[in-house]
Amino acid sequence: MVQVRRANPLDLPGIYRVEKACFPDPWPLLAFFPYLVDREALAFVAEEEGIIGFILALREGEEVHIHDLAVVPEHRRKGVGSALLEELLAAAAGAQRVRLEVRASNFAAQAFYKKHGFRATAVIPNYYDDGEAGILMTRELTAGRDPR
Ligand SMILES: CC(C)(COP(=O)(O)OP(=O)(O)OC[C@H]1O[C@@H](n2cnc3c(N)ncnc32)[C@H](O)[C@@H]1OP(=O)(O)O)[C@@H](O)C(=O)NCCC(=O)NCCS
Repeated sequence: MVQVRRANPLDLPGIYRVEKACFPDPWPLLAFFPYLVDREALAFVAEEEGIIGFILALREGEEVHIHDLAVVPEHRRKGVGSALLEELLAAAAGAQRVRLEVRASNFAAQAFYKKHGFRATAVIPNYYDDGEAGILMTRELTAGRDPR
């Protein structure tokens, strides 16, 4: 049974393990620490005999900015990413919109966010270190919780 809960500093190794399993260019270990201690941060993990996914976001005024979301490959397409996003949206009550940037080539993540009511609103050339463009995706939260 997958459980989604708020992340804490003890989750750092588990989050890093998921990050390395999901991205060819993972963030360094210590990059995650601020999200686990900052009061403005919204950080959740999905657990099933260890951490299998996480979502990290920051409140920026009226917006919530998703900085990272990942689910280990063997647990994808089972609703874990959706459960993490829904928990984040519930905790973001009061914010007006959620935004994130995703690699132009990351069609899976773009499909995931579209399914959750996000729209591609801009292309940001050279957004990533390797020169790839980022797609800005946003969702207004005036309608409240995730429609799913
Ligand atoms: C994006 C990601 C977090 C989705 O996690 P997940 O647990 O597989 O997502 P869910 O099972 O909740 O998927 C919900 C819906 O999103 C869409 N979706 C998810 N993955 C998809 C894919 N590979 N292709 C097309 N649509 C996809 C589908 O509509 C899916 O519903 P369905 O399975 O009933 O068709 C996961 O693919 C991942 O970790 N990718 C690598 C890291 C990454 O790219 N992170 C995002 C950076 S911005």
